[in-house]
Amino acid sequence: MPWWQDAVVYHVYPRSFADSDGDGVGDLPGVRAHLDHLAWLGVDALWLSPFYPSPLADFGYDVSDYCDVDPRLGTLADFDALVADAHDLGLRVLVDWVPNHTSDQHPWFVAARSGRTSPQRNWYVWRDGRPGGQPPNNWASAFDPAAPAWSYDPPSGQWYLHLFTPDQPDLNWDEPAVEAAMHDVLRFWLDRGVDGFRADVVHAIGKDPLLPDDPPEVAGLPHAVLNDVDQTHERLRAVRRLLDGYPGDRVIVGEVYLLETARVARYYGRGDELHLAFNFPPLLAPWDADAWRECIRAVEAELGPRDAWPTWVLANHDNARPRTRYDRAAATAGEDPATRARRSEARVRAAAVTLLALRGTPFLYQGEELGLEDAEVPDEQRLDPGGRDGCRAPLPWDSSDDHGWPPVGGSRPWLPFPAGCATRNIASLAADPTSILHLYRRALALRRSSGVLRSGGQELLDAPDGVLAFRRGDGPGAWTVLVNTTGNARAVPLEASGGRPVVRLASDGVGEGSPYSGVLAADQAVVVAPAGGFAAAGTGAEH
Ligand code: GLC
Repeated sequence: MPWWQDAVVYHVYPRSFADSDGDGVGDLPGVRAHLDHLAWLGVDALWLSPFYPSPLADFGYDVSDYCDVDPRLGTLADFDALVADAHDLGLRVLVDWVPNHTSDQHPWFVAARSGRTSPQRNWYVWRDGRPGGQPPNNWASAFDPAAPAWSYDPPSGQWYLHLFTPDQPDLNWDEPAVEAAMHDVLRFWLDRGVDGFRADVVHAIGKDPLLPDDPPEVAGLPHAVLNDVDQTHERLRAVRRLLDGYPGDRVIVGEVYLLETARVARYYGRGDELHLAFNFPPLLAPWDADAWRECIRAVEAELGPRDAWPTWVLANHDNARPRTRYDRAAATAGEDPATRARRSEARVRAAAVTLLALRGTPFLYQGEELGLEDAEVPDEQRLDPGGRDGCRAPLPWDSSDDHGWPPVGGSRPWLPFPAGCATRNIASLAADPTSILHLYRRALALRRSSGVLRSGGQELLDAPDGVLAFRRGDGPGAWTVLVNTTGNARAVPLEASGGRPVVRLASDGVGEGSPYSGVLAADQAVVVAPAGGFAAAGTGAEH
């Protein structure tokens, strides 16, 4: 089995992970200095969101040089040192490849914009407008669906396409030189020793050559979530051949931001396109057993027949953190504040156990292991055009006033910290063996030690209302995962032969190592294994 099927990947958002020089912005030496946290936690790989030179219109997803490090975040030498140290610790490194668009400050776009006869004009998508000064078609841009995905360039009298902000012009992959240049970017990082890529909105690198209007029934949806054409698959096969030409199992995981699992599944090709694609429904799903069951059913139904390996993700830099999402939804549903205070962490603990017990490659987002909520960002501190600052708050390392982000010359972190991080920080939670941080660590250790969890089969089981149940592995050695998504205890008896099964992991720690009682506490998730016949997982508490 290739390493990436066996791995748990930790997503680092470099600007908010750790700051080595006190300028209030996280950087690559900061990541390097804290790799021991990832090794201690027990993940297998890290994925770095963009750290390339960028005017920061989209916080690094507007790249102005694909083959360098933003000076605020370090140097190429820092990157090399980070990869070397990570590899020494047994951690693989993935970097973000942003192939759909560049920054408008990228020299390619500067050249393309210089006039209709520029040799690089065709590297981007330029069109004449429609009569009446209208854009070439009705495609909507991503962060403001009321705004067109086109901007007018007065000097040349043409419009250029941007599925995201006007500062992020879309590359024209119909131009062979663009494909060649973006392959060179892959080679640049592969040659530096990266183990793979996370490919940003990669389903958008092919466009219908006729650029037809989106149908009226999808009005209000950005074109980025609708773009789904055959040309992209050919391009992904070429990327895959490039990666396969390198030694070692280099991996590419695609952000295929289409709304249906069936569509996403096509981007695995016949085992010759993406190795992995993000599966976002669980990240958007409410804390509800039926919703989770449907996510699992869809993944098994769509990926199973293709022999495509699933991924699982609860959080990333683009969405409210699970704790914030679940709490908000509960408040909207009328949950009173006292109940919310009681259930808030229990829900994300149970979600963590679920995520790490599923068949497929889990991705964790920095701070998920602390059960962080989004920071409250006052209007005057808001920066992101997509309104995503809250989930990008700096990671609190300790309980001191600066939480491990020592200010130099009075600088403060670029975003405020989340609430509660006087106690909810890495040092404090590492010192408490009952904390959510230790739950993540135990879950990761269990997964690492268990072939059943890493690669065993998976089958949904019938369960009482509000309970998600699935089996991992087959025959008498199979394990059972039970997740109570309600705020009340639920009796869920398990049929067992050969002795009462044992709780190997409990989201609240209660009953771990003991025979399963047949009752789940409110918002409790448990992983239950047959009695006997398993190796003990490491539980050392030192950080
Ligand atoms: C992806 C990134 C997001 C970015 C967008 C445009 O969705 O995850 O952060 O804004 O692409 O690059």
